[in-house]
Amino acid sequence: MKRWLALAGLVFFAPPCFGQSVATLRGHVTDASGGAVAGAQLKLTLVATGAVREAASDVNGAYEFNQVQPGKYILEASAQGFQARRQENLDLLVATASTLDITLSVNGRGYALRLEPRRTLLDAIRDECGLTGTHAGCEHGACGACTVLLDGEPIRACLMFAVQAQRAVIRTVEGLATGEALHAVQRAFIAHHGVQCGFCTPGFLMLAVNALERQPDIGDDDMLDILASNLCRCTGYQNIIKAVRAAAAEMRKVSAGP
Ligand code: FES
Ligand code: FES
Repeated sequence: MKRWLALAGLVFFAPPCFGQSVATLRGHVTDASGGAVAGAQLKLTLVATGAVREAASDVNGAYEFNQVQPGKYILEASAQGFQARRQENLDLLVATASTLDITLSVNGRGYALRLEPRRTLLDAIRDECGLTGTHAGCEHGACGACTVLLDGEPIRACLMFAVQAQRAVIRTVEGLATGEALHAVQRAFIAHHGVQCGFCTPGFLMLAVNALERQPDIGDDDMLDILASNLCRCTGYQNIIKAVRAAAAEMRKVSAGP
């Protein structure tokens, strides 16, 4: 089974009160379903000089590069047990104002926002865009209640700053239905009682919808592996899995055609 690395929660952030030209880059390494990957290695290369810095995670699974200068960087992550080495290009800027004007594209609509650079994508989606279907649970990457799709990849919105998402296409649970018609996965959650208190539901829906839309014939083991990255505090896993299996069967039928 192929496992992919993704990067989330990385931002170059200098509090304006310091007025510095250096700052700290913090982040987490996640897998393709948004779950934190323990023990990954991060390498940061400044394109102009080829200077390399490496970081290991702290006890909370976060990575930190101190005294980073603005500029263009290549950030690479690798981890044992993952086939893919993930590389990202970063254009790092120092935030010099207490607020930034950004536009987020969420569910096909542009939201012009003025916010502090420290605000997370989760804060922005809920408090600024008013899309409260994305839930705030642990707010440190453990539960997955805040899962949204960013350029077609599930991410933990609590681990990313809003300013990082301004050129991305974001999809939240509010973007699943088409008008009054619920998505097949939403219908299956209702039919198979995949919802108890509903707190975890948006996160599970986003994981399942993304996996099934990308690969309707995804194997059961792979799907369970993806769902395992989120937590249900009502422990309703059996019915969540039943619902996702039912939705998968329906979506396979549709993709196979008459
Ligand atoms: S993982 Fe983001 S709120 Fe728990
Ligand atoms: S249904 Fe309550 S947390 Fe999952």
